[in-house]
Amino acid sequence: MNIMNSCMIIFNLFCLIIYANGFVLKSSKVVRNMALYDDKVPSAWKIVSIPLKEQARRWFIQRALIKGIDWDKLTDYYKVPTNFAELQEWKSKMENLSVVYPAYFLQPFHGYDEGNMNWLAAQENEAASLSMCANYWKGVCAADSERWVRYNITSNIKSYLGNEDNLIDGILDVGCSGGISTEYLKRGFPRVSNIYGLDLSPYFISVGAFRSKQQNTNIQYVHANAEQTPFSRESFDLIVCNFLFHEVPQNATQKILDEMMRLLRPNGVLVVVDIDPENLKNDALLSQFRRWAFEVTEPHIYGYYDSNMTKYLEDHGFENVVKKTNDPINAIWLGRKQEVTQTYNDSYVYYAAV
Ligand SMILES: C[S@@+](CC[C@H](N)C(=O)[O-])C[C@H]1O[C@@H](n2cnc3c(N)ncnc32)[C@H](O)[C@@H]1O
Repeated sequence: MNIMNSCMIIFNLFCLIIYANGFVLKSSKVVRNMALYDDKVPSAWKIVSIPLKEQARRWFIQRALIKGIDWDKLTDYYKVPTNFAELQEWKSKMENLSVVYPAYFLQPFHGYDEGNMNWLAAQENEAASLSMCANYWKGVCAADSERWVRYNITSNIKSYLGNEDNLIDGILDVGCSGGISTEYLKRGFPRVSNIYGLDLSPYFISVGAFRSKQQNTNIQYVHANAEQTPFSRESFDLIVCNFLFHEVPQNATQKILDEMMRLLRPNGVLVVVDIDPENLKNDALLSQFRRWAFEVTEPHIYGYYDSNMTKYLEDHGFENVVKKTNDPINAIWLGRKQEVTQTYNDSYVYYAAV
């Protein structure tokens, strides 16, 4: 690494330290409210993140390589001309041109200037997903770490469902990216044929559809905003949001939860898997550097840190809300939609569970 590069990193880290401390420690109502309720990304975030994001991105790739993830090989597969042509074909078939993108989705994200709205982010999705959990357990390789995290999700869902596991018909994976989480759901519930992945990035769902065809999984992918989906009400028995909510502002979270309630059948189950804010608040788990490198590529993370998912689910009318530890960093929240009867005027009558 040359001296210029080192100076740049040190300067950027200096900016980030000032920024992060200012943001995290300042508890004035204005800042907290802005982070919690505003769709806009704070301007300070943009100023600091732009010079830093490239370094953060390089650091993520470097960390993946150290963990034995062959970043280039995994990514290049989606760049092979025949595969890339197929991806583009999927995009032109599946992209819903009438989708209106919320401003928060068009921010720089994860070190990509166009956030999730570009091919490189989609092509790197598999490698990035593998590297996400790579350091969760000491001495465990990245592939096993990912399997453990995903296996824990499935097994936590199954233990919540109990015997009803067999009654599940439709499953929706919301914020599915390139379909890795959806494929794990398919493996966990092999009997269910009706499995959908939904994402707001047409690039990501094209990767999902491409992989579905390659692996013959028969998963259906849909390009839509989770705040307002094209599905009719009561379409699913199980809806899972894997690592979605730390990536959206808090008012979008509320709208997505409303929509999930609409899409679930009576007695259906909503599952949220994401970083446990309690883990990060009391943090002994992440090095300061790793934390900053993560935060600088996540424009909505501070609002998420202040959120209380258990309360959100209860406020949205979910019952039997349970929060469990899924792995060293993430929690899983599960809640059930009440038994309901639909009346003629399309409003609901709720029956208390006996
Ligand atoms: C961290 S990724 C999810 C990863 C994936 N579920 C997994 O477990 O590997 C979050 C995803 O949510 C998507 N997303 C963000 N806002 C969304 C919205 N309003 N509607 C639908 N998808 C959204 C992003 O495009 C991104 O693919």
